[in-house]
Amino acid sequence: MAAPVLSKKSVCIVTGATRGLGRSIALMFSKKLPPGSLLILLSRNIDLLNEVVSVIQQRVEIRAIAAVFDQGSCNQDTFNNLITDCMTKAEVTPNVFEQAILINNAGTLEPLEFMRDLDNIADMSIFFQTNLVGCIALTAKFLQLFKSSLMDSRIIINISSLAAVSPMKSWALYCMAKAARDMMLKVLASEEENVRTLNYAPGPLPTDMVNSASKNTKDSDLKKWFEEQLAKKTLVDCDDSTRKLMAVLDKNAFENGSHVDYFDEL
Ligand SMILES: NC(=O)c1ccc[n+]([C@@H]2O[C@H](COP(=O)([O-])OP(=O)(O)OC[C@H]3O[C@@H](n4cnc5c(N)ncnc54)[C@H](OP(=O)(O)O)[C@@H]3O)[C@@H](O)[C@H]2O)c1
Repeated sequence: MAAPVLSKKSVCIVTGATRGLGRSIALMFSKKLPPGSLLILLSRNIDLLNEVVSVIQQRVEIRAIAAVFDQGSCNQDTFNNLITDCMTKAEVTPNVFEQAILINNAGTLEPLEFMRDLDNIADMSIFFQTNLVGCIALTAKFLQLFKSSLMDSRIIINISSLAAVSPMKSWALYCMAKAARDMMLKVLASEEENVRTLNYAPGPLPTDMVNSASKNTKDSDLKKWFEEQLAKKTLVDCDDSTRKLMAVLDKNAFENGSHVDYFDEL
């Protein structure tokens, strides 16, 4: 039986930690990880990241560091040194940790168009840069930096979606990106035996992303569904979804590269 993931002294990188699910993951993981663990929080907004850092650091035995990483546009040299600079700032090296965790949470939803209207090359390029290119490059950098010989384990979690496995009208780009990110971890699982990988679909959450879905979805049935769920307040609370992710990691019985949904039985 594998040990619960969050029981090991870890360096844990969370992308999109300023708002919504990423913020909830950063705050709740920081309460569960053992002393000496380090959280590295990334997004475009350093002020909001630093607010999350200061909440985390109320627990003195946990460290947190924030850095700007725009997944949609990042200079290669800045990117190459992003995580090493954070480690240097925290005065640590990879070998002081038992485990490294990467949570690819950052994501965007728009442009929301029917397939027949998807002809804006610039908008699509930014979308895939943000949701795929930045995420793929960060995953590769994580594997280069945290070598299995230096620590017990490496865990990569992709925040996925029902949209990865089920088509949603007028959400083609989002569905494609989520399916591709799931496949990224399936390929990784086939390449690297000693990396744990999980695609976690967090359920529909009342975040900025869903506010935008309820306003800008072109398919009228899907738009109405989001409007109604928001009005009835029936969406999944971010902290509840994070709790489910933590339970999946506690049990640590998931198959590498698998897709696990919030609504699945543990
Ligand atoms: N909400 C849902 O119902 C739902 C359902 C299934 C899956 N998901 C997935 O869950 C994840 C989090 O979603 P959410 O609802 O919490 O979204 P959200 O509230 O819109 O937050 C998105 C996060 O991504 C970051 N981000 C956006 N663009 C970025 C960029 N170019 N570079 C770096 N970071 C960027 C944002 O940070 P900054 O703005 O500070 O850069 C923010 O922290 C996403 O992957 C989403 O697809 C959400």
